[in-house]
Amino acid sequence: MTLRFAVIGNPVAHSRSPQIHAAFGAQTGLAVDYTRLEAPLDAFLATARQFFADGGSGLSVTVPFKAEALAMAGSATLRAQLAGAANTLALRDGELLADNTDGIGLLRDLTENLGITLGGRRILLLGAGGASRGVIAPLLAEQPEALFIANRNGDRAAALAAHFADARVDGGGFEEIEGSWDLLINATSAGLSDSDLPLVPECFADDALAYEMVYGHETPFMTLARSLGARTVDGLGMLVEQAAEQFYLWRGVRPETAPVIAAVR
Ligand code: ATR
Repeated sequence: MTLRFAVIGNPVAHSRSPQIHAAFGAQTGLAVDYTRLEAPLDAFLATARQFFADGGSGLSVTVPFKAEALAMAGSATLRAQLAGAANTLALRDGELLADNTDGIGLLRDLTENLGITLGGRRILLLGAGGASRGVIAPLLAEQPEALFIANRNGDRAAALAAHFADARVDGGGFEEIEGSWDLLINATSAGLSDSDLPLVPECFADDALAYEMVYGHETPFMTLARSLGARTVDGLGMLVEQAAEQFYLWRGVRPETAPVIAAVR
């Protein structure tokens, strides 16, 4: 029997996840039925419940439903609890398990695919929503020197920083960013609307890496970073890595990511 999976979100039409999971299936020889599922903004719960009632085995969850996905599950992994959001739902012995593979996906892309060392580095994380929150604990585990969360709404960033209660972590508005940073990660959704972020050139260290979580198009953050001489990367590698971790959770097999990243790009 072919197990059924889907990515649930709104909007979800442009998601590359079906292509990625199909590639994992072909590579591992496991049959994959993976589709897109657009849930009405006010009906995530009913849509997800129906999917599982109809025999679905797992969901990838994307914007804006990650918090609701965590709330609906009977149990959650520690990393999903720490993130306060789930990007993965899996049916286990008749009960829904929530997981979050975004953080490990970002980490694998940075350290394994891009060869970046995070220990001792200064990380500037832009945004204080779900995408940002999900990657903070995995980043801190790599022992950076400092992590500053900057957000349009500075209070929201300060509250998120306080939540982690770690001397290396602070947060505030963009105007509160001090000094230069080795790794700048854009976890805001500004790239989706092509909005500029109020970043001064001094934020970028000489050999800075600018990581944009959005994938598929050049965002103003990437354009700015490149104009200042920074190396820029989009979120496609993170997308494939988080998907590989989902595939492992669902199927017990970890696919090779490099050929899939190359194929999707
Ligand atoms: P997600 O789960 O994608 O993080 P979210 O929780 O809605 O979604 O958070 C969106 C993030 O993008 C927030 O940090 C938001 O800033 P505010 O908290 O100040 O709203 C940020 N964001 C969205 N549009 C932005 C823009 N045009 N400029 C700067 N930040 C923006």
